[in-house]
Amino acid sequence: MAPGYVLGNLVKEIKRLEMQAGLFGPLSREALVKADIKKGMRCIDIGCGSGSVTRMMSDIVGRSGRVVGVDIDEKYLEYCRSVSTQSNVEFVRDNISNSNLDSIGSFDIVFSRFLFVHLRDKSKAVRSMKRLLKRGGAMVLQELDHSVGSWLCYPDDKNVEALRKVYVALLKKSGGDPLAGRKLYKLLVEESLNTSVDCYSPCLLMGHEPYSSLGWRIMESLRPQIMRLGLLNTRQYAEMHRNLKQLAKSRVAYVTYARFFSAIGRT
Ligand SMILES: C[S@@+](CC[C@H](N)C(=O)[O-])C[C@H]1O[C@@H](n2cnc3c(N)ncnc32)[C@H](O)[C@@H]1O
Repeated sequence: MAPGYVLGNLVKEIKRLEMQAGLFGPLSREALVKADIKKGMRCIDIGCGSGSVTRMMSDIVGRSGRVVGVDIDEKYLEYCRSVSTQSNVEFVRDNISNSNLDSIGSFDIVFSRFLFVHLRDKSKAVRSMKRLLKRGGAMVLQELDHSVGSWLCYPDDKNVEALRKVYVALLKKSGGDPLAGRKLYKLLVEESLNTSVDCYSPCLLMGHEPYSSLGWRIMESLRPQIMRLGLLNTRQYAEMHRNLKQLAKSRVAYVTYARFFSAIGRT
């Protein structure tokens, strides 16, 4: 696990990632299509987590292509290997902040989703990723931006903003950047890539499983760090968790899932 990585690697977190991947899968597929992903291509997914985009790319590039999923945490890689049935995929351990991937070859698509908020030095990571790009290839970066008001809940529920604040505090304490989403465009332009960017804000409808549960589930993944740093005491944690579970049952409420930035940089 990356030192201080706030979401950990519990079985529950892997389940949350798979659930979240269902919500964002269409936006990742759309970006990959825009980046001209094709059969036979070589692709790499940095910070692959449970591997949902790695598997998506593997289906698209087919048997004549090759996809590498990369993660710093062996526990995620073990999970990916255990669920992956495709023969054109492999999973490799690397820390993109201090990368050793230079001998792995070059790729038509270098992809990463939900990694950049966790990184101390985003420019260094982008430079390492650029070294993996083939001439004519594309880098696709997707990340959230957790600014004040971006977790909009209507009708208002104070637990949602309280959870955003806890998450933002944890990201900052671990050296990450809760506002990384908005910075993707600049990061790619600064690497002289021909860049485009889009921004979305998906709505989680409360009362509609499974996505209504993403709030209390992320709180469970954050629990060890919340307790370690004393951001909430046990009673406060239990009360907020209970309230978020209650909100998830509302028939009328929705919560916007921050802002989701999707940037494509071409060589
Ligand atoms: C929030 S998860 C996102 C997983 C996946 N990309 C997705 O969209 O579902 C972030 C992943 O990045 C990995 N990670 C964190 N820091 C990393 C680093 N420095 N190098 C490589 N992977 C890292 C974590 O272990 C975790 O699996």
